[in-house]
Amino acid sequence: MQLSAGGADEAPAPEVRLHLEGIRRTFGETVALDDVSLRVRAGSVHTILGENGSGKSTLVKILSGVLPANQGTVRVGGALLGVASPARARRLGIATVFQEVLVAPNRSVTENVLLGQDSWHRWHRRGRERAAVALAALGELSQRPFDPRAEVGELDLVQQHQVAIARALAVEPQVLVLDESTAALDIEERDLLFAAVRRRVSAGMAVIFISHRMDEVLSLSDEVTVLRSGRVVATLAKDELGERRLLALLNPEAVR
Ligand SMILES: Nc1ncnc2c1ncn2[C@@H]1O[C@H](COP(=O)(O)OP(=O)(O)OP(=O)(O)O)[C@@H](O)[C@H]1O
Ligand SMILES: [Mg+2]
Repeated sequence: MQLSAGGADEAPAPEVRLHLEGIRRTFGETVALDDVSLRVRAGSVHTILGENGSGKSTLVKILSGVLPANQGTVRVGGALLGVASPARARRLGIATVFQEVLVAPNRSVTENVLLGQDSWHRWHRRGRERAAVALAALGELSQRPFDPRAEVGELDLVQQHQVAIARALAVEPQVLVLDESTAALDIEERDLLFAAVRRRVSAGMAVIFISHRMDEVLSLSDEVTVLRSGRVVATLAKDELGERRLLALLNPEAVR
């Protein structure tokens, strides 16, 4: 029996959850991003790898609605992000842990984890229930106890990071963006984060992952896009990944 292309026996192509097309962003004379396109599939970790200043965080800010692009589009599923707006990005299911961790230092752990959540959490859940939701999210990331009523400004930096990560996980996003979120964590905490990420990726979440640590990139990524001076130089699938290859793409001068 002959099967035509796309026949019933072929596995369906995995759904593209996030689609960036032709993104350009300049700051004065600096071209931070130039014609950047990428697709992130549901149920996968897509790493953006690039040297300092290659445009990773600018890309993160654009897809999170914090910064407008000069050109190009961001889509989640079929929906266009359109005008840069963090609220719109959140509604489309994008949750971001920014490189510069954003917490409200004078607010409690619970309030910080539930910050930006819908009114259901804010108005229709009692204090104790809200604290339980926050502690459940944090419990995945840390074996150290958190006091839900403590002000976040009083916590150490690792715990502040974990609060910011828990906030992103607690909304059960369609797309989770982690910009250098492992930099402040030790190995044990990093492994807890990876386990939490992997559980959600198995359930279909798409992840954009940014890290300078090659071992992390190799262990977590399903695909890697390499940026050099704001341009995509390659996107590699999992079976194409290797340290030497990635280093050569990152900086061809350095490996010569
Ligand atoms: N708000 C800004 N104003 C001016 N220039 C900026 C601004 N934000 C980023 N840039 C410039 O855009 C380029 C890309 O910066 P970006 O922060 O996106 O890089 P990155 O890949 O995240 O670097 P790192 O690995 O250090 O986090 C750099 O040249 C940077 O100096
Ligand atoms: Mg950055």
